[in-house]
Amino acid sequence: MEMSVARAEDVLIRRPTIADWGRILEILEQANFHHIGGAEMPSFPLADCFVAENVGRVIGVAGYRVLSRTTAKTTLLAVDPEHRAGGRVGERLQRARMDHLRALGIRTLTTNADDPRVILWYERRFGYRRTGARVPKVESFGRGDAEEWTTLELDLSMPATARNRRKRRAV
Ligand SMILES: CC(C)(COP(=O)(O)OP(=O)(O)OC[C@H]1O[C@@H](n2cnc3c(N)ncnc32)[C@H](O)[C@@H]1OP(=O)(O)O)[C@@H](O)C(=O)NCCC(=O)NCCS
Repeated sequence: MEMSVARAEDVLIRRPTIADWGRILEILEQANFHHIGGAEMPSFPLADCFVAENVGRVIGVAGYRVLSRTTAKTTLLAVDPEHRAGGRVGERLQRARMDHLRALGIRTLTTNADDPRVILWYERRFGYRRTGARVPKVESFGRGDAEEWTTLELDLSMPATARNRRKRRAV
C-alpha cells in the first residue's frame, strides 16, 4: 500500500480509548519508547494522553504528567515515521498537551529530549529553554546513540508572543 504524509485537515487530535493501545505501542516502539513499566517510564496512563488520528488510524501520541498544582512534565511524544516532518502532527500533539495543561493552571512544564534536532524544535517552535540539567538514561530508551536526556523548561503562563519577544531581545 502506498503511504503519504497526512493532510492537516484529515488529522484529528483526540483522547485515546483502550482500543488504541496496541497502535500506540507500535508507534512508541518505532522511537524505542515502548518500554512502559520500566525504570524510564514506569507508567503511561491513557487518561493523560492525546492521539492524532488520520482517517481512522492513529499516527501519533503525546502524554504528560501533572506533578503539582503549577508544575507538569511531558512524558512521551512520537509520530509514525511515515508522517513526520510534513503534516506538523507532532506540533499539533504538543500544542494539545500545552493548551490542556495551561488551562489546568500549570505554569512550568518540563520536557526531556535526547535528539539535538528535537531539542532545537522545542526551543524554536515552542519557546523552551535548556535548564542545564542532563539526566543519564537508566535503561535502553529512545535514541541508541544518546546516553542522557537534556532537560528543557517552558513557562506556560507567558503568552507565546511575549516569549518570542523576550527571546529576540536576548539575541
Ligand atoms: C519529534 C517528533 C514528534 C516531531 O513530529 P513531527 O510530526 O515530525 O513534527 P512537526 O512536523 O511538527 O515538526 C518537524 C520537526 O521535526 C524535526 N525533524 C525533522 N526531521 C527530523 C529527523 N529526521 N529527526 C529528528 N527531528 C526531525 C525538525 O526539527 C522539524 O522542526 P522544524 O520544522 O522547525 O525544522 C517526531 O520527529 C518523532 O516522533 N521523533 C522521534 C521521537 C522523539 O524524539 N520524540 C520527542 C521526545 S521528547
